[in-house]
Amino acid sequence: MQDQAERLREMMERMGPPSALEKTMAHPSSCRVIAVTSGKGGVGKTNISVNLALALAHKGKRVLLFDADMGLANVDVMLGLIPQYTLLNVLNGQKKLAEIITEGPGGIKIVASGSGGVQELADLTESQRAKFLDALVELQHQAEVILIDTGAGLHRNVLAFALAAEEVVVVTTPEPTALMDAYGMIKILHRERRDPQIQVVVNMASSPSEADEAGQKLVVLANRFLELKVKYLGFLLRDPGMVRAVKEQKPVMLSSPMGPSALGLARLADGLLSGKSGMGDGNLLQFFKKVTQIFGGKD
Ligand SMILES: Nc1ncnc2c1ncn2[C@@H]1O[C@H](COP(=O)(O)OP(=O)(O)OP(=O)(O)O)[C@@H](O)[C@H]1O
Ligand SMILES: [Mg+2]
Repeated sequence: MQDQAERLREMMERMGPPSALEKTMAHPSSCRVIAVTSGKGGVGKTNISVNLALALAHKGKRVLLFDADMGLANVDVMLGLIPQYTLLNVLNGQKKLAEIITEGPGGIKIVASGSGGVQELADLTESQRAKFLDALVELQHQAEVILIDTGAGLHRNVLAFALAAEEVVVVTTPEPTALMDAYGMIKILHRERRDPQIQVVVNMASSPSEADEAGQKLVVLANRFLELKVKYLGFLLRDPGMVRAVKEQKPVMLSSPMGPSALGLARLADGLLSGKSGMGDGNLLQFFKKVTQIFGGKD
């Protein structure tokens, strides 16, 4: 009579080697996926994403920065990098996901979407999508925090990322128009998904009190009209050093590590790390599954 061990061995042989997806189910990673977004454009998302990635890396976290902005490829421009390959090469089947990761400064890893890369995510065939998700499984083991720099506004290709990420950082400036657009974004996130984890950063403030007032305004609005708890994560002041850093293509965390912006960014990183730990359960995979679903409108 066949013993149990033998039957198990036979079963394993029939099943073949485990796919990356099965491996992930067996060994879920605890990787946080945080989308950085805004209602109004030009409020500082890319600057904050790049520098926050560096601040988190400085605190010993393995960080991957995913540039999901469809416009000009900002992240690489800000870092003075020229990525050889982008997400587009992966979606075209020319490269593996692991092969397109660029090493950035401070040990951060970068995935550039390339112009058109994000749009392509919308049009994947079922088998392409499966292959892509399988590749992502490998990626999530390489990072503890994945920051996604999105475009601005309520377009589908921006919202897909903000709706799919476990956590969302909404960046605004203290200006009334930016605040109203930030509230608009929060409202949509609230309407479209259950229990969104939203944190607000006020950028380019002229004083801490102006920033706090603006941040609190959003917290109160969300609480009163949406019954939603939004966290005010903190602020960055308007800083000529930031403008200079962009021109010099050297992030402010590296060009003025003791300056006010770098200290502010370190505080934001602390706030993020103290706020919440990883969710586990193949988080990144879930994230991209959702992104492609929202894009493609199918499951
Ligand atoms: N704290 C700051 N102090 C001064 N200037 C800033 C600050 N943050 C950002 N800026 C300026 O604002 C510009 C826009 O920033 P950034 O590109 O990060 O915005 P964005 O929200 O990513 O824009 P987009 O919506 O186009 O993607 C930068 O070029 C920089 O000069
Ligand atoms: Mg940007």
